[in-house]
Amino acid sequence: MAQQLRKGDELGDGEAVERDRRRSAFMKELAHELATPLTPLAGYLKLLQGGRLGDLSPAQRKAIDAMSGAVARLTRMVDNLADFASLAPGEAALSTATLDPDALAEDVAAEVQPYVKDARLHLEIRRAGGGPVLADPKKLRQALANVLQNAVKYSPHGGEVLLEVTRDGGRLRFAVYDQGPGLSAAEVERIFEPFQHPYRPEESRRPGSGLGLPVARRIAEAHGGGVTVESPPRAQPPGGRQFTGSKFVIDVALRSGAPAAASAAPASFPG
Ligand SMILES: Nc1ncnc2c1ncn2[C@@H]1O[C@H](COP(=O)(O)OP(=O)(O)OP(=O)(O)O)[C@@H](O)[C@H]1O
Ligand SMILES: [Mg+2]
Repeated sequence: MAQQLRKGDELGDGEAVERDRRRSAFMKELAHELATPLTPLAGYLKLLQGGRLGDLSPAQRKAIDAMSGAVARLTRMVDNLADFASLAPGEAALSTATLDPDALAEDVAAEVQPYVKDARLHLEIRRAGGGPVLADPKKLRQALANVLQNAVKYSPHGGEVLLEVTRDGGRLRFAVYDQGPGLSAAEVERIFEPFQHPYRPEESRRPGSGLGLPVARRIAEAHGGGVTVESPPRAQPPGGRQFTGSKFVIDVALRSGAPAAASAAPASFPG
């Protein structure tokens, strides 16, 4: 493969560009192929869960719920793969629409609820208020889900997670605090690289694909912002509880202009 690429490309750097282009195209194609059968799977599971295909016994309901959780997890991984392939660093391929950041936080919290319940965590949401903003709802949701999913996944049993939405000036922030193991300075350097998982011999949970944070960062950057991490948090949020693990912040520049001006055209964000 490398040789094939070399044959048709005498431009030095062009080889790497062409390789990246092919890799992105392959990842996009793969994400599309994986997403196609997931759509009816998710649809039929929803019908079953809603009792639209007949009554379920408690054991059947439990099985369907477990399958739905697995399909939701797979869908997030496939979306990460598609986003990673299509959102080159600094590229703003966004479809903007109005969204309510507090409702988005609630939605994402509902998505991780099965894990919250399993690990007996307490997840608190602090809302920003202030009404709708302009951003890419699907991508922002994916970025927040990736970060919140990590906080939940790496929290100790019975731990606390705080999701705080704030707005100031032209910026929107989602801060996620946890009481997990935290990250060393060296780990913080690595975790935004694709496919990286710090090695933790004491960690019993299986790592994921290692695309969650790189994708969250690309999405935030495409919105004129970024994702930062403090581990442990430099300052604790008001309320007295101590979040000794990490604080991840998704920072987004809000577009100026009335929400009514939303469009599906590629957005240009300040930043
Ligand atoms: N809140 C956190 N506390 C401790 N470690 C974390 C936290 N969030 C991320 N990490 C570390 O960073 C790594 C990379 O995170 P990332 O979300 O990119 O990948 P992943 O969770 O392993 O897989 P994926 O999200 O693609 O399913 C994780 O494997 C984990 O080691
Ligand atoms: Mg993750």
